[in-house]
Amino acid sequence: MLNFEFYNPTKIIFGKGTVPQIANNIPKTAKILVLYGGSSAEKTGTLKEVRTALTDHQFEEFGGIEANPTFETLMRAVDVVRSNNIDYLLAVGGGSVVDGTKFVAAAADFEGDAWDILKTHGQNITSALPIGVVLTVPATGSEMNSFSVITKASTSEKLGLSSPLVFPKFSVLDPTKAYTLSEKQIANGVADSFVHILEQYLTYPSEALAQDRFSEGLLVSLIDIGPRIVKDRENYDLQSNLMWIATLALNGLIGAGVPQDWSTHMIGHELTARYHIDHARTLVSILPAVLRVRKESKRLKLLQFAERVWGIHEGTDDERIEAAIEKTAAFFEALGIPASLRSYEIDEAGVDAIITQLEQHNMVALGEKQDVTLDVSRKILVESL
Ligand code: NZQ
Ligand code: ZN
Repeated sequence: MLNFEFYNPTKIIFGKGTVPQIANNIPKTAKILVLYGGSSAEKTGTLKEVRTALTDHQFEEFGGIEANPTFETLMRAVDVVRSNNIDYLLAVGGGSVVDGTKFVAAAADFEGDAWDILKTHGQNITSALPIGVVLTVPATGSEMNSFSVITKASTSEKLGLSSPLVFPKFSVLDPTKAYTLSEKQIANGVADSFVHILEQYLTYPSEALAQDRFSEGLLVSLIDIGPRIVKDRENYDLQSNLMWIATLALNGLIGAGVPQDWSTHMIGHELTARYHIDHARTLVSILPAVLRVRKESKRLKLLQFAERVWGIHEGTDDERIEAAIEKTAAFFEALGIPASLRSYEIDEAGVDAIITQLEQHNMVALGEKQDVTLDVSRKILVESL
């Protein structure tokens, strides 16, 4: 097992009817800014529940945070924070609102150009406002981690930050809040969580026995519930499992002491920035190619994945690996997500553009062994066409 530090201070409040508990978890003296996305939080009634819960608190509101939240919009929220002396942020929404709120928390006291926070991937953050979360999309794990991904609309750049200062203080996870998501959004959540687990599991063996079994348990559970939940979205058992699995997939637990890849995500962010493809869909579109192109360096874990996750015991090593990749692609296709770039009308010139973006963002040595050079990324993208 590799050396590691594990730190996760986020309190999770899980279950049906838990939104009112935000009131007991935010100091009565706080000046709160409630941040949300487009129209869903209002339409579904979640915002109303939040307002009711905060009757005895002082709060302002900031709506309009987009999917793939933009720096430009978030800087307007920073102005609201500064001009109203806000000292607590409450995110009501999915990964985009939670990520956006983390950025606002860090930018509020930041002196200088706040885009530098992203340029340094959060390393220059020295303070952040406290954050609470009411989660409405099971997908990213942002509700219990220290990551945030922000897009600068003016330059089409999508960059991530990581800082222990932006862990939410608490997150309310009420699975019934996800009932109103569309089939596509739920499928995206299943796929994003699945790939989060693979980025931490499908690398090379490190004798991390419990982490491997945790990951395999989460993957097998997603394979079990994925096809059912897209058709049965108001099923509490399915939604509660998806919500907790998505959180566990990226809260640091399964990634402790193991090598991590993240090349699929880094290439995926460039695809979203340029072509506005949903985050989860970018991942699925290139994942089979990532696994085929990098088969040799991932060989032992691919064989373990084939056996323990997909129950494939027959055939040569190469046949079992190929069967596991095919089953993985078929799982995503059954959720309605294309497992290649073919449906997005991207050609070889489009691949060149993505490679240029990766180079601009210094994404030139990705993966668990830092051997995913621009040439390897190009191979992956071309193989996905
Ligand atoms: O804007 P509104 O009207 O609220 O609509 C949203 C949005 O259009 C809608 N929605 C949210 N809750 C709903 C609902 N619709 C009906 N019922 C509800 N209860 O859903 C749409 C998508 O929401 P979004 O927050 O964008 O989805 P998701 O949670 O998948 O977040 C994606 C973002 O998270 C980043 C991605 O890059 C992307 O920007 N990620 C963050 C990570 C992290 N912080 O650890 C890791 C991930 O790998 C990912 O990169
Ligand atoms: Zn993701």
